[in-house]
Amino acid sequence: MLFSISAIRLRGVVLYTLLMGVLPMVGWAQGNVQPRPVPGYPLASPYDQRIRALMAPMSLEQKVGQMTQLNLDAVSVGAVYQLQEPHRLDSAKLHEALRVRQVGSILNCGGHAYDLQHWREIISEVHAVQGPAPSIPVLYGIDAIHGANYVLEGLLFPQPLAQAASFDAELVRRVAEATAYTTRASGVPWNFSPVLDVARQPLWSRVFETYGEDPLVVTRLGSACIQGYQGSNPAGMHRVAATLKHFLGYSMPWTGKDRTPAYIPERLLREIFLPPFKAGIEAGALTLMVNSGELNGIPVHADAQILTGLLRKELGFQGLVVSDWEDILKLVTVHRVAEDYRDATRMAVMAGVDMAMVPNDYRFTDALLDLARSGEVPVSRLDEAVYRILHVKFSLGLMDRAEPYSMSEYPLILSDSLRLLQREAARRSWVLLRNRGAVLPLKAGSSLHLQGQALDDPYAWNGSWSRTWQGVDTLWDRKNAGPSLRDVLGNRFSLASTSSDTKGPLVVVLAEKPSTEKPGDLGDLSIPSEDIETARRWCRTHSGPKILVLVQNRPRILNGLDTLFDAVLLANQPGAAGVQALADLLAGDYSPSGKLPYTYPAQPHSLLTYDHKWTERLDPSFGMEAFRPAFAFGEGQGFWPVRYEKVRLIDTLLRGMDAVLRLEVSLHNTGPQSQRETVLVMVGDSVASVTPSFRRLRDFRSVELGPGERRQVQFLIPVRDLRFVGKDMEYVLEKGWLNATVQSFNLPFRWEP
Ligand code: BGC
Repeated sequence: MLFSISAIRLRGVVLYTLLMGVLPMVGWAQGNVQPRPVPGYPLASPYDQRIRALMAPMSLEQKVGQMTQLNLDAVSVGAVYQLQEPHRLDSAKLHEALRVRQVGSILNCGGHAYDLQHWREIISEVHAVQGPAPSIPVLYGIDAIHGANYVLEGLLFPQPLAQAASFDAELVRRVAEATAYTTRASGVPWNFSPVLDVARQPLWSRVFETYGEDPLVVTRLGSACIQGYQGSNPAGMHRVAATLKHFLGYSMPWTGKDRTPAYIPERLLREIFLPPFKAGIEAGALTLMVNSGELNGIPVHADAQILTGLLRKELGFQGLVVSDWEDILKLVTVHRVAEDYRDATRMAVMAGVDMAMVPNDYRFTDALLDLARSGEVPVSRLDEAVYRILHVKFSLGLMDRAEPYSMSEYPLILSDSLRLLQREAARRSWVLLRNRGAVLPLKAGSSLHLQGQALDDPYAWNGSWSRTWQGVDTLWDRKNAGPSLRDVLGNRFSLASTSSDTKGPLVVVLAEKPSTEKPGDLGDLSIPSEDIETARRWCRTHSGPKILVLVQNRPRILNGLDTLFDAVLLANQPGAAGVQALADLLAGDYSPSGKLPYTYPAQPHSLLTYDHKWTERLDPSFGMEAFRPAFAFGEGQGFWPVRYEKVRLIDTLLRGMDAVLRLEVSLHNTGPQSQRETVLVMVGDSVASVTPSFRRLRDFRSVELGPGERRQVQFLIPVRDLRFVGKDMEYVLEKGWLNATVQSFNLPFRWEP
């Protein structure tokens, strides 16, 4: 025990020396994901001179203050997590934080959402207490995960997983832009979003916060989200800084429980988990948050190879790295790699954390000051961190204006145009997984039977991060959480009043109670047996068409229940407009177009992703059918089929790394209504030196087809994008046969160098 702790201690110091100066590429960096020039210190900020001028007279106290991030509770009236209502800032605590300690950042709400006016008062008061320049404005950060969810006037959009069902980067960008708009109106310039973790473990409680299981989808939608938040100039009054989170390997805990160990070999990290972050860095994200968990035995907050070797040296990230919640303390209390807070602080800062989300006291600040005075943390490391923090503050325009902009700059708050976007996004969330006998849309004049959960509760449709962290406390927002499904369907259809009439359509809603992080841990992915039994009973006594509606944080195993239903509809928490979107869909106002951005498992121990290996397809009789999910990645239909009439591969022999795979897909919307269709192009290697996946998504596009329209869609896929991480951790493509798959079309082609 003692040995391992001191070994780790040593590791921190030695590695830092190596990574910072002597060896440009160590360990991680031996593998190679298109390395960029080693950035070195200081990063070349366009604000370089102003930053240096500010930093020159800064004391050590001021520097460690900048690196400290406090929770709003720590500067508010009342005890932490038990603030007095209504919320008020505590002037003595504020004075201590801002004038004495000179903290660089504050985060979060004090337990629940506030209206715009209160947010703006908070931000203004914070800056007033700080006083004018040369004081350095606080950088306020918030979790605006699906709209400005902690602002009462902020519309609740679909959760990221529900947005991902659209496979539409432009839609995601527009939702992010709307989120940034209202967040900045509240005076907050920094958003802890997007989650770029790839959801490879369906049990994990935060699957709903991701863009699903495929790295390409997460990469494209994540990058679009960053663009929506930051635009071309994050200092703009409608923009916020984005945060790439949670770096790296957070989303595949071995047990499925949040913040428990992940064991991910380097190849898989590079192939699946790294690309969205790499793209996020290239998209210019200003900040990044660290994974709270441990990866291959090392807590990421203490891992210099990940936070400096990989992130800084190899990927060239120059922005600000913030810890996750209380995670320096957890190096002591939970991970047990540090003996005390001081030790933990040294480890985290030397590993590469620039700012600690402490968040409720000054232990980090005191420890870091002491470490800097003793020389255990070099002042040059503090300078590097502070430089990055100031770069973000300059990039957001805070150094020129820290107070909220005038409300007259935000005429779109609660406007029709934002509500239309919310409606569009909610409609695009719905995935129709089955429609036997074309029971949907419902016949006019249908009299509906409603059963199940969340009929009267608007919150299940919004999910967590909705006015409160877990999103289950209705006290803080009755007005904007959205109407209940019972009310909405009651306005649209007649609701059957007696149970004796069993001929009308039966709509059964199974909703998962919102939860995230540890409170969302599950020991069993199955839908509770009582719920299954109750639903089976309803089905037995009902002779009319049966429609199952699923609203969930993650795919909950149905144990065959779905087969009793004629239609199955799913949306992973479509937001406050989700119930109206459902009613409109049932009535046939529009045809659904969402596709599943993950594999919906049928059995508790068959949790495979769509891009599994060939061995995972082998069944006990050695046939090739062992992969039988309840619903497949990419599944989802409209009321009328879009026919794939022809798929043509232009060349069957491609040569050289600059070659392009060209495909033409001929679509036909057979319906009388317009229909959106997402075309997915999968490619698989026939043979490769690293066992190939069955197939991988290599391109996708969402197109809108008019009634009866025929259209040809062209794909140009650089063969470079078909590479995989080979034996030497380098991206390679190997000579030989590959297969392009579009729907049921299978098109072999050959590549030679
Ligand atoms: C979560 C982060 C979040 C942070 C601040 C943590 O518990 O893991 O995703 O940004 O809290 O609220």
